[in-house]
Amino acid sequence: MVNVNSQGHLTIGDCDALTLAADFGTPLYVYDVGQIRQQMRQFHHAFKNTGIKYAISYASKAFAIRAIDQVIAQEHGHLDVVSAGELLTALQAGFPMADVSFHGNNKSLAELKLALDNHVGTIIIDNFYELDLLNQLLAKQAGQVNVMLRIAPGISAHTHRYIQTGQVDSKFGFDVQSGQAERALQLVRKNPQLNLLGYHAHIGSQIMAVAGFTALVKKMVQLAATWQNKYHYEPQVLNFGGGFGIKYTDADHPLDPQVFVQDMVATLKKEIAATKLSVPEIWLEPGRSIVGQGGYSLYTIGARKEIPHVRTYISVDGGMGDNIRPALYQADYQAVLAQNPLAAPQETVTIAGRYCESGDVLVKDQPLPSSNPGDVLAVLATGAYGYSMASNYNRVPRPAVVFAENGKAKLVVKRETTADLTRLDLNYLK
Ligand code: LLP
Repeated sequence: MVNVNSQGHLTIGDCDALTLAADFGTPLYVYDVGQIRQQMRQFHHAFKNTGIKYAISYASKAFAIRAIDQVIAQEHGHLDVVSAGELLTALQAGFPMADVSFHGNNKSLAELKLALDNHVGTIIIDNFYELDLLNQLLAKQAGQVNVMLRIAPGISAHTHRYIQTGQVDSKFGFDVQSGQAERALQLVRKNPQLNLLGYHAHIGSQIMAVAGFTALVKKMVQLAATWQNKYHYEPQVLNFGGGFGIKYTDADHPLDPQVFVQDMVATLKKEIAATKLSVPEIWLEPGRSIVGQGGYSLYTIGARKEIPHVRTYISVDGGMGDNIRPALYQADYQAVLAQNPLAAPQETVTIAGRYCESGDVLVKDQPLPSSNPGDVLAVLATGAYGYSMASNYNRVPRPAVVFAENGKAKLVVKRETTADLTRLDLNYLK
């Protein structure tokens, strides 16, 4: 999972991690841009020779900054956004709006208006309230908008329950079982300003097996066929969401995107053949699998606390403020010393963050070579849902973000300052 240079130092995008830490400071998010391109290309490659039209719509919630949107556009990706903020980021990136899908279970009137005003390619309608809002807005303007219906397919993915989404008891999408999805289809078809492209579903995240996706493809094709018979509507697109798992530690054995795609395509072709439907386009929305493994968090080691016969804590200058995942999902990560990531471990330590909370532990029981205060520690595979879920807990500024590629490093998000943090505060008493 790590690359080193001739000095044995960790490299990211062919840049020495120690130099990056010295030049840009820590904590620092560094992305190996070549790795991200590689992930996008793997998805494209998987569809080659399938004869299927497709789109790889990067779920920008995983890491939504201008620079990544620009890389995704270069790599012929589409983009999935879930808020005015992510939408404006895409606009600032110069991302083609026709290739943007707008998601969310509670889009506001203002957000929907922003999407329409900027000619966002597709709005993925999640619920009846949103459908009403959209109808209201469209009544005041001419023209059509492309929409999809988000379906809750009643399929549970085997993953942490906080990141399961496809099951019946979910806040997302129109439920199939109770007939809500069918009712939504009827309503959308009533408004000629809504151009229904097809159906969307997303079953969860960090999924390591194909079974959930196979079941999803079957279910969606069955639904499409039933509704074709009943309503003479045939979807042009089926969007199966994202959720493809990645390797956080040596204990994870994710499947290549190729394996997921091949299975979905084979299932789709087989299922479609038994219906009167023609083969639809497949859209996928990978987030984590595009940016996760290409991201590294660099920290500087500080305090050390040895509790004899219990545990040794090493504290770093970041933690749950820049990576909430261990605290929130009991997520496991792996860490290395940037100066000698391949050196033999000499001790087992627990990497603690700097935040005032006992749960602020980044890595439990990490074997490491011996280290000193001032050494740089890298936590691996932090590229997804790290920076994008960062907070200012304890009024600690968020890290800077650097993109590294072919030995060149570029600052793409500035480090927040304490002045940024107090900028919005107002006096209560004069
Ligand atoms: N499409 C939809 C509709 C989604 O809701 C999501 C993720 C994705 C695509 C992308 O899923 P991915 O390929 O990244 O797994 N914060 C959690 C993950 C939340 C996922 C939310 N939805 C985490 O850190 O694990």
